Amino acid sequence: MKVAGSVKVPGDKSITHRVLLLAALAQGSSSIGGALTSLDARSTARILRQLGARVSPLRAGSITRVEGQGRLQAPEGVLDCGNSGTTTRLTLGLLAAHDFPATLTGDRSLRRRPMRRVTDPLTAMGAWFSEGNGDGLPLTIRGGPLRPLRYEMPVSSAQIKSAILLAGLAGEVEVSLREPHGRSRDHTERLLRAFGYDVAESHGWITSKPSGRVEPFQIEVPGDPSSAAFLVGAAILGQAGTLRIADVGVNPTRTGFLRVLARMGSEITIENQSERFGEPVGDLIVSPAALRGTEVLAEEVPGLIDEIPMLAVLASRAEGLTTFRQVGELRVKESDRLGLLAENLRAVGARAEAEGDDLVVEGTERVPVGPVRTAGDHRLAMAFAVLGTVPGAHIDVDDLACAAVSFPGFPETLQQIAGGADR
Ligand code: S3P
Repeated sequence: MKVAGSVKVPGDKSITHRVLLLAALAQGSSSIGGALTSLDARSTARILRQLGARVSPLRAGSITRVEGQGRLQAPEGVLDCGNSGTTTRLTLGLLAAHDFPATLTGDRSLRRRPMRRVTDPLTAMGAWFSEGNGDGLPLTIRGGPLRPLRYEMPVSSAQIKSAILLAGLAGEVEVSLREPHGRSRDHTERLLRAFGYDVAESHGWITSKPSGRVEPFQIEVPGDPSSAAFLVGAAILGQAGTLRIADVGVNPTRTGFLRVLARMGSEITIENQSERFGEPVGDLIVSPAALRGTEVLAEEVPGLIDEIPMLAVLASRAEGLTTFRQVGELRVKESDRLGLLAENLRAVGARAEAEGDDLVVEGTERVPVGPVRTAGDHRLAMAFAVLGTVPGAHIDVDDLACAAVSFPGFPETLQQIAGGADR
């Protein structure tokens, strides 16, 4: 198969959630170009409408307009966050500074995901939470005036970090945080700085001193590197050609997968680099490559957490062993990604084991054939669909429709790049 041509990927999911939330907090009208229109982004838009913001329908190719009221308002009904952990945890951060009760829930996958990691620090800041459902959803928050917080996070997580930063912003109190190892994505810090807030970093501590309200803004969201990673994977597994993925975010806290792929023997270059709202953007140029195994260190994991499914699938086509160290966080993603990655790689004929919190994959040249159980997890579905592009492969992904959680049109895009013209 020849993988070639020039493609764009949908808007960055993390940045879309953040700019929707910040626009809802601003007083007045903001416009967002290139916003992701996936199911997760729609979950954020939907609950912001319930919280009093006017958010125009999310449509691919059109500008999204958000009319914020300066504060969120008490919602009608329960806030259903769908499949989206980012929607839930970041919204809890904003709600912590608002003096009304709100109940959040989500789909079966989201209801099993841990929430204490955000409710603990937000409780320390002064928010109240119902103790209904252990660590998970549904839960009710009642916010109010907040206290400053200095907090050592138990896990490196951009969702925990952002929930606290957004609570500090909405509650106008200083917060300082430190991540235990590795650096999670820093979009919230970059956006707040681009909006003129004082967000400083020193000796691993991030300190935000919010002052004044968020002003309405205009922004253009870059393509999502986590979505691009699947097309990068397809291009690497191709037999010939060069693929350009245009206008993708290349923030170093998101591109750990490119550094790992370089170690594995793939040369991916970045062209047309520019910067937007403090976010580096560029085109990724990818060609087929013969890969060799590598060791992915624990401190690298936060910078490639969402790319492990694609990397593990690529590792199954590499020469030798690849070990992902300390990836236990994968157990609490949209599925038990650690267990399902190992199980599905074995189901299609590769060797893979979850050994404690490590994932070990041994590459093979055997044609991949077999069924894949996604448990509705979009990233598992897309990673194994890419494996299905290997010549002769027969991969039966049980649910590819769930790709729409983050990458609307993924099956069509994958088909489009296979056999396209050279750039
Ligand atoms: C996200 C952070 C990551 C990531 C998720 C999006 C974000 O989760 O897996 O897809 O936008 O902040 P954690 O921060 O919990 O690792």
